[in-house]
Amino acid sequence: MTDKKNIIQAFTNMAPRYEKIVDSELQNFWGWSYRGVVDSLFEDISVNGKDIILDIATGTGVIPDRLLKNGIDGNRIHGLDITRAMLEHAQLRLNGGNGQKPINLTCASAMEMPYANASFTIAVCGLATHHMSVEILLSETCRILRRGGKLTIADAGGMLYWKIPGIKLLLKIAAFIYFSITDDPSRAWSEADAVSNVRSKEEWSSLLSKNGFEDISIVTLISKFSWISSPLIIKAEKR
Ligand SMILES: C[S@@+](CC[C@H](N)C(=O)[O-])C[C@H]1O[C@@H](n2cnc3c(N)ncnc32)[C@H](O)[C@@H]1O
Repeated sequence: MTDKKNIIQAFTNMAPRYEKIVDSELQNFWGWSYRGVVDSLFEDISVNGKDIILDIATGTGVIPDRLLKNGIDGNRIHGLDITRAMLEHAQLRLNGGNGQKPINLTCASAMEMPYANASFTIAVCGLATHHMSVEILLSETCRILRRGGKLTIADAGGMLYWKIPGIKLLLKIAAFIYFSITDDPSRAWSEADAVSNVRSKEEWSSLLSKNGFEDISIVTLISKFSWISSPLIIKAEKR
């Protein structure tokens, strides 16, 4: 099970520099800019004025910001994140830090979302599923979506060779060493833990269908190194 304390500590430390850090890491690992990944996520989301949208693990609010710029009414946009410091940066970006509420931000875990059943028509999740139990995330997302509601996810996908015994352990050790050098211990532990949550295309497809989704489409974005985990854009509809 992913350790919540390390995740919250890691993202609290990263919050002031989050976008810079993530951009440089995505460039190093995938050859993608942060903006490029967000653009790819948006290519696959079609939103109309009646949708009610939840951005799961919204972080510093980059995805809601894009929705607002696309003309979506802030009352219809909700952002959820477990790290208060990330939400404070989202608050500054989106709401000018003055307590106004053009969008709704909630500090809570996506493992137990504080929303009633069938509250949303669209759910989005960018670069965060590897920090969560994917099974719980999908069952919670299915619960809060209306029938026919759309889910779009962008995150790292596992490779088939990860199934070879011992490979995941080696990847965890590599992640721990890399992030201990480039960041701090809480980040190193949370990224090492995250390796177990990274799923291949095939695993995503089966988990989505087990958890109440259909019309599943999973696209692998071309990345810099073919042997490293590649970014996936995952789309599905609640049955
Ligand atoms: C890499 S950031 C992604 C932020 C944003 N979605 C983006 O695209 O920039 C991961 C985010 O997931 C959040 N997170 C991790 N575990 C979570 C959980 N169980 N529930 C809600 N948020 C979580 C972290 O606090 C962090 O803000």
